[in-house]
Amino acid sequence: MKKIAILTSGGDAPGMNAAISSIVHSGFNLDIQVIGVLKGFEGLIDGHFLELNYDSIKNIIQRGGTILKTSRSKRFLRKSYRKVAFDHLKSKKIEGLIVIGGDGTFKGASVFSKEFQIPVVGIPCTIDNDLAGTDFCIGFDTAINTAMDAIDRIRDTAESHNRMFFVEVMGRDSGMIAMLSGIAGAAEVILMPETKMSIEEVVIELKKQFKNNTTSLIVVVAEGDEEGDAHFISRKVKTHFPDLDIRITVLGHIQRGGKPTCMDRFLSIRLGVAALNALKNGYSSDMVGIVNNKVVYLSLERAFKKQSKLNQEMFQFFESFRLNRTI
Ligand code: F6P
Repeated sequence: MKKIAILTSGGDAPGMNAAISSIVHSGFNLDIQVIGVLKGFEGLIDGHFLELNYDSIKNIIQRGGTILKTSRSKRFLRKSYRKVAFDHLKSKKIEGLIVIGGDGTFKGASVFSKEFQIPVVGIPCTIDNDLAGTDFCIGFDTAINTAMDAIDRIRDTAESHNRMFFVEVMGRDSGMIAMLSGIAGAAEVILMPETKMSIEEVVIELKKQFKNNTTSLIVVVAEGDEEGDAHFISRKVKTHFPDLDIRITVLGHIQRGGKPTCMDRFLSIRLGVAALNALKNGYSSDMVGIVNNKVVYLSLERAFKKQSKLNQEMFQFFESFRLNRTI
C-alpha cells in the first residue's frame, strides 16, 4: 500500500486533528502517502483532495475542530454519487481510506467499501460515545469535562440565588454525557433516555432534596430524554415550585469545541496509528477501537448498530447513586 486518503465526517469532535496528525506521522514511518479529503464525503464526491505533509499537521494536535472540515453528506446516500467518489479515488491511485467519525459516517463507509471493494477503516470519533466495539470514542472525554465545568459554574450562580437550573447536554439518543457530567457535577437529578424517570418522579426527587435544605438544585437533561427537552421539562416542573426561580441553560455546541483533553489526544494518536496499520495489514470495512486498554477490530456494520455503554452494572450503580446520594 503506497497511497491512502483520510477524511473527517459528521459532527466534529475534539481530537479529530490529533488523529489526522497521527495518521500522517505513521504514513511517514511506513512510507505511505496520506491524502486529505476536504469536507468528508462531500469532498470525496467533488474530488477535493490535498496532500498532507509536515507543514499541514504542524501544531494541530491541540486544536479542536478538524482542519479537513466536515459535513453530513446527503449526496453520499445515493449510489450514483458514491460511484463518482470511487472514480476519484481510482484516478488518484488511492488504495485505501480512513474515515474519522460516528455512526452516520460508518454507515456510509461500510456500504461504500463493500460496493467498490475498497478497503476502509474507521476511527470512532463522536462526543456521544455511542459506538459499539470501543470503550471510548474520541471527543467524549473533552465533552464531559466541558459539560462538568459548565455545571460547576452554574452551581456557583445557582447557589448564590437559591435557584433551580435545568442544564441540557448533547448526546443525541445517548445519555453518556448527561450521566458522567451529572454525577461528577453532583446534579440533584439526571435525566437520560436509557433510564425512565417521569416528571412526577422528578418533582418528588426535587422536593426531597429541597426539604434537605439544599439551596440550589441542578437537573441535567440529556437532549434525547423521552420526557422532552430542558425547556419543556422545566415548564412542567415549575408548576410544582411556583415560588422558586428557575433558569435553563442549553450547552449545545460548546460541548463540541475546544482543546482536546490529554485522554482524547492520547486516544486519537493511538487509534490513528492502529488504523493505518490495520489498512496496511488488510483490514477492510472495520473499525479500530480500544477495549480493556487493548486495540481491537470490529466490522463497521456492527460498530454503528448502537449499543448503550450503560451495562447492567452501570445501571445498578446509577440507581443506587440516585437513591442514596452521598455527595
Ligand atoms: O453527534 C454529535 C452531536 O453533537 C449530537 O450530540 C447532537 O445531537 C448533534 O451532533 C448535533 O448535530 P448538528 O451539529 O448537525 O446540529
